Amino acid sequence: MELFETVNDIKEYLKTKKEEGLTIGFVPTMGALHEGHLSLFREAKEENDLVVASIFINPSQFNNQSDLEKYPRTLETDLKKLEEQGCNVVFHPSVEEMYPEPDTTEFDFGNLDKVLEGEFRPGHFNGVASVVKKLFEIIKPDRAYFGLKDFQQLLIIHKMIKDFDCPVELVPCAIVREKNGLAMSSRNELLSKSERKQASLIYKTLKFIKVQAGFQPIHELKNYVEREFKRKNMKLEYFEIVDMYTLEPLTTWLGSKNVITCIAVQVGNVRLIDNIILFS
Ligand code: PAF
Repeated sequence: MELFETVNDIKEYLKTKKEEGLTIGFVPTMGALHEGHLSLFREAKEENDLVVASIFINPSQFNNQSDLEKYPRTLETDLKKLEEQGCNVVFHPSVEEMYPEPDTTEFDFGNLDKVLEGEFRPGHFNGVASVVKKLFEIIKPDRAYFGLKDFQQLLIIHKMIKDFDCPVELVPCAIVREKNGLAMSSRNELLSKSERKQASLIYKTLKFIKVQAGFQPIHELKNYVEREFKRKNMKLEYFEIVDMYTLEPLTTWLGSKNVITCIAVQVGNVRLIDNIILFS
């Protein structure tokens, strides 16, 4: 496995690989790799000649300094895991390498970055899009792999690819869950044992909603979820039932198609998100 820390070095290396006709599958990460990430690597490995990972904790997508500081950093174990997955190339740049100049790119995602996560994390998706665009320009992948857990991020990247004609195929990958249903996330590392147990309410709730979808009125389901989290002393940031493409909230199940429910919950000091597709 090759490790690169500078833009020029990795660009040059991948240029020769492209000239040899090899296809590149790219998995961007911020490290603290878990089974969810590894499933992306396995998929990328099957569909491409070369798999490239990036490990870069992108400051511009953190709207909260303490969230950035406490983000888990586990480079040595990450590299080991990547090697075991048969990853071919890792890009691990410094902040100065990625942003020699302050990042001032402004994207227009319409409503997509204003709602759900966007409401609670202003500027987050602008930061995500700007680093992913930069990474695409450096790596020039044929395919890029993103997990469905960050569903809104996936929509944002999809729009960015379309708006900028990025020559890359976006490959959405299924959510991987822990035994108790908790969606795999690097942030799970920060949960205590009891918080981890508490957090299982998130997926339990989503599964319940999936069963009730189409039968119980939406406002009643929303009230139920709010009550349940309050009863368990957990801070529900949002629970929304929305159109899968526009993220507009639904008020009725009439003609329901392409519907997803998204949730964000604060468990202790850790913010967790999850979702489940109700109708596709
Ligand atoms: O999903 C993530 O880990 C990050 O948002 C990404 C896509 C690597 C960009 O920093």
